[in-house]
Amino acid sequence: MAAQPETQAPLKNPPPDSPRRQKVILDVDTGVDDALAILYALLSDELEVLGITTCCGNVDVDTATRNTLALVELTGKDVPVYRGSANALVRPFAGPVPWIHGDNGLGNAAVPEPSRRPEPEDAAVFICEQVLRYPGEVVLVPVARMTNLARAYLFDPGIAKSVQRIVMMGGAAFCPGNVTPVAEANIWGDPEAARVLFRSGTPITMVGLDVTMRTGLTGDRLNRMDPSRPYTELVQQAVRFYMRAYEEHHAARGAWCPLHDPLAVAVAEDPGLCRTRRCHVDVETSGDLTLGMTVVDARGKPTAPPNADVCVDVDAERFLARFCSRLGMV
Ligand code: RIB
Ligand code: CA
Repeated sequence: MAAQPETQAPLKNPPPDSPRRQKVILDVDTGVDDALAILYALLSDELEVLGITTCCGNVDVDTATRNTLALVELTGKDVPVYRGSANALVRPFAGPVPWIHGDNGLGNAAVPEPSRRPEPEDAAVFICEQVLRYPGEVVLVPVARMTNLARAYLFDPGIAKSVQRIVMMGGAAFCPGNVTPVAEANIWGDPEAARVLFRSGTPITMVGLDVTMRTGLTGDRLNRMDPSRPYTELVQQAVRFYMRAYEEHHAARGAWCPLHDPLAVAVAEDPGLCRTRRCHVDVETSGDLTLGMTVVDARGKPTAPPNADVCVDVDAERFLARFCSRLGMV
């Protein structure tokens, strides 16, 4: 083999099939913080995003799909997008949350019309195919209702042992919920789906409100975002809207928002960002007051073996530094 010239610059992005990159499938309901998570994942040198699947949640599934396609296109990456569930597993979609994410899911910012279409295949089928194609190599990163993943697991229960790990944004272990006093939105929106995953036997890292609420982007960082990047204007408009929504509930923090979904992607990339506690977790699917609660057995002698690594602490500074540098908020 001919020697490489010494002046050759090191490869910034390893080729897509490099074994050094962690294969992931991102599942989203785009959504402002989903948009940030998509950018964080697509701009990573450590992750190989096999595809992005969409679900109802912050917005209906078609809006989530369109937003996702638009964001992927703004990064210039060639990553396929698969439309997924319009409803929860056994419940109708509870409806969007325009007071948090805007009418269009991206804070009413102008979203360019994507030129690409979603792939013809269903999201759950895509997940099954990829897991079977790369047994033991794929990390699933749902940052939305767990509906698409649960449908994949129900469609082919055999994939449970072939998924390397699920790193989910969801749940509230030792802290309050955000939809009800005890339930976090991604679990509350489809508790039956989340239960399928917690009972599946696949290793799970639960990146819940315990840690995501300790991360935060401030308005001054957002204002410093590199104006030359093609997604900067969209991100700034969307996140300003999202910050105003959070300001109503957390006025003391000023212009600020938590980085729920990007943190889950960051943990998939670098598990060392969070301290975890091994626990048994299950999901309440019928309680009047507790629907969607992640029930964590933190007793000294739990009756069931642990099925999840629950994130209980985060190196928020390290994460924020990485997040800001990657998105050009320097
Ligand atoms: O509870 C926060 C989660 O709910 C995030 O994934 C956000 O995007 C919404 O889906
Ligand atoms: Ca989300």
